[in-house]
Amino acid sequence: MIPSAIVYTSRTGFTRQYAQMLGKQVGLPVYSLEDGLYGLPQGTGIIYLGWLFASHVQGYAKARKRFSICAVCGVGLCDTGTLLEQVRSATGIPSEIPLFTLQGGFDRSKLKGPNKLLIHMLVKGLSSQAQRSPQDERMLQLLQKDGSYVSLDNLSGVLIWYQFLIK
Ligand SMILES: Cc1cc2nc3c(=O)[nH]c(=O)nc-3n(C[C@H](O)[C@H](O)[C@H](O)COP(=O)(O)O)c2cc1C
Repeated sequence: MIPSAIVYTSRTGFTRQYAQMLGKQVGLPVYSLEDGLYGLPQGTGIIYLGWLFASHVQGYAKARKRFSICAVCGVGLCDTGTLLEQVRSATGIPSEIPLFTLQGGFDRSKLKGPNKLLIHMLVKGLSSQAQRSPQDERMLQLLQKDGSYVSLDNLSGVLIWYQFLIK
């Protein structure tokens, strides 16, 4: 199925930026999940983007009940194109649905309540480890300073997939 819309869930804005960037590139309308649930017909083919929480693509479960998911993008702090197996299994994305991970960003000032506490605990836990894997070391560095890693370059895999699909 060829997607006819892009739907996203974003907490601090990085996933929204990717959704808008992608919409512009492929010429599809972009909806937040709430707006899409309200305004798009049942079964609409969509590209779904959600931020990553514990390797889980937020909002995917809700989106899949209503829409026909053509591809999923998980936006996290991980490097673009990594953690694919982990994210697919944590979120329960079937193998036939293309999955992409995109590096988003971190903005501590926009986090509230439990999310802020979880990040604080994660940083504390990682900092207290005597020895860290290179991946944990990188995650710790990214969590210690705010930053945006959103770029058109990171969307290249999704754009290649889309061009191939519509040919
Ligand atoms: C509580 C919490 C858990 C997170 N878990 C992950 C994770 O498992 N993997 C990852 O790569 N990024 C993780 N992140 C980072 C976010 O996915 C990242 O900041 C993302 O860009 C946020 O997107 P948004 O601005 O659209 O909300 C986590 C962030 C928070 C606050």
